[in-house]
This record gives sequence, C-alpha cells and structure tokens, in this order.
Amino acid sequence: MSDTEFSAEEIDFEVDAEDLPDAPASQTPLGAPSVIVDDLHVSYRVFGSRGRPARGAAQPSRVQRLITKARGMDPTAGVTEVKAVRGVSFVARHGESIGIVGTNGSGKSTLLRALAGLIPPAAGTVYVSGTPSLLGVNAVLMKQLTGERNIMIGGLALGLSVKEVTERFDEIVDFAGIGDFVYLPMKAYSAGMSARLRFAISTAATPDILMIDEALATGDAAFRQKSRERIDEIRQQAGTIFLVSHSLASVKAMCNRVIWLDKGQIRMDGDVETVARAYRRFTRSGGADD
Ligand SMILES: Nc1ncnc2c1ncn2[C@@H]1O[C@H](COP(=O)(O)OP(=O)(O)OP(=O)(O)O)[C@@H](O)[C@H]1O
Ligand SMILES: [Mg+2]
Repeated sequence: MSDTEFSAEEIDFEVDAEDLPDAPASQTPLGAPSVIVDDLHVSYRVFGSRGRPARGAAQPSRVQRLITKARGMDPTAGVTEVKAVRGVSFVARHGESIGIVGTNGSGKSTLLRALAGLIPPAAGTVYVSGTPSLLGVNAVLMKQLTGERNIMIGGLALGLSVKEVTERFDEIVDFAGIGDFVYLPMKAYSAGMSARLRFAISTAATPDILMIDEALATGDAAFRQKSRERIDEIRQQAGTIFLVSHSLASVKAMCNRVIWLDKGQIRMDGDVETVARAYRRFTRSGGADD
C-alpha cells in the first residue's frame, strides 16, 4: 500500500431516490482496509479576495464576518485560506459502502477529491490500496468530443486496453441508454445523459474504489435502479464505494455506513440508522448545534 497509488473514479451523478426501496444495502463481509485517512486537512487558497469591499461597504458586514469565521478563514492574510477539511481520520474497508452526508459546504466534495488524489492535502495522509489508476473519469471526459471517443479515452484512463474497451463498448452504451447520441459530441447531451455515460464508463472496469458525488447531475428512476444494482455488484466484488448524497433515502438504500461531515470535521461515523437519525434531527432543527 502506498500513498501515491490511487484507484479511484470520481463522478458526478445523482442517485437521489425517493423511489428506491427502503431495504438497507445487503450485507457483505468486510475485507482489509482499502482507504486510510489520517488527520487529513485540505485547504483552498483564494487569491484576490481581499480589498474588494462588498456592495460599497468599507468594512465587512456582520454576515461576511460570520461567514469568514464559520469557514475558518484568516481575514488578515493577503490570501484567504478556506479550510474545507479539518482533521478527518477514518479507515474504509473492501466491501464497504460509505455514505457521506453533511450540509452545503461541509467539505464532502473536497474530501472525495482529496481521496481521489485530485487535490493535495495541506496536512495528513491518504493511503489508497489497489491497482494504480490515477485519472478519474471526471477529469478526462471532454464535452467537445463524442461519447464514443470519451468511452475510449475514459476506458484507457481506467486501465482497460483498446481491445477491452472495444469489447465493452456496446455494454457501456446500453447501460448508459443513450443510443445513437453516443456518436454526437457530449455538449449535445442533457445533464442526465452525461451523468449516465459517466457512470457507465466509471463502472465498466469494476473499480476498486468508486466515488459518487451526486450533487450536479440527474438520473431517472429506471437508471437509479440500474445504478443501485451495479453499485451492489461492485461492493460484492469487494470494492469500496463512497456516495456523497443529500438524500437519506439513497444513503439508506445503498450504504452500510455513514460519515457525517460538519464544517470540515467528522461529526459522526457509524451505522446508517444511527447517523441518519442524528443527522435528520440536526437538519430539522435548522442545522443548529444543540
Ligand atoms: N475551488 C474552491 N476554492 C475555494 N473554496 C472552495 C472551493 N471549493 C470548495 N470551497 C469551499 O470549501 C468548503 C467545502 O466545500 P465542498 O464543495 O467540499 O462542500 P460540500 O460539502 O461538497 O457542499 P455541497 O453540499 O454544497 O456540495 C466550502 O466552504 C467551500 O466554499
Ligand atoms: Mg459537493
């Protein structure tokens, strides 16, 4: 295991699912650790954010000061540092499907990007085991190219050979359900169609670690059901899944563990029922600490 090896596919895909069955994800015996995160800190540096008074105000407003404080920024520095992930530690195992919940801006996407090796940690370590496959599909899909070209490039990025991609081409197009659109540039796709193709490519190679950040895209009910089955398959083949979701229904249907992030820190990490209940109580109280 080495901290320079990554096998992670990060995709944006909504598996939001009121229509999913309520039954929890099926149990798979847990294997060896696949991801170890040790006191991870991730910061963004925002340049040129100082000296521009908002709406003509010379002093930052009360709201701005509160936001600055809440996000852990240092208002006196020339460069604003946003501390998006602050001291996160956990161990993920093969066969585990981990939901990541938290309010907007709590650091979920940042954590995934750091696990995928797309952002370097400011401090701490991420160890990822598995076959090295550095590029996430999200990083390589190109809107100006056809779906067909993207399938080839994405497949190669995941470590498949040209022959393997060619063999799986029809299966990928079928799964994505985009028909002849595969021969058009991806900029002609709807958000849902792009998400479906991304998901189909990302899971074509049975990834060791699959990361799904649902925030941006959409998928219809039938496709959600298909993706849920595919996620289950990957997990049964002892892959590790991370699912960022605002839908507790999706998390309950697809995960056997939940990490709740709050202001860049782990607020709770445990079984789905316990964490989901606590998180629901928190959001119902308007996100206030009690
Ligand atoms: N590229 C960036 N540059 C500067 N700050 C950023 C950047 N991306 C995210 N942030 C900040 O980092 C923090 C965590 O953001 P992140 O996108 O990880 O949250 P999230 O939990 O995924 O939120 P959401 O539910 O809205 O998707 C926020 O304070 C956000 O403003
Ligand atoms: Mg996000």
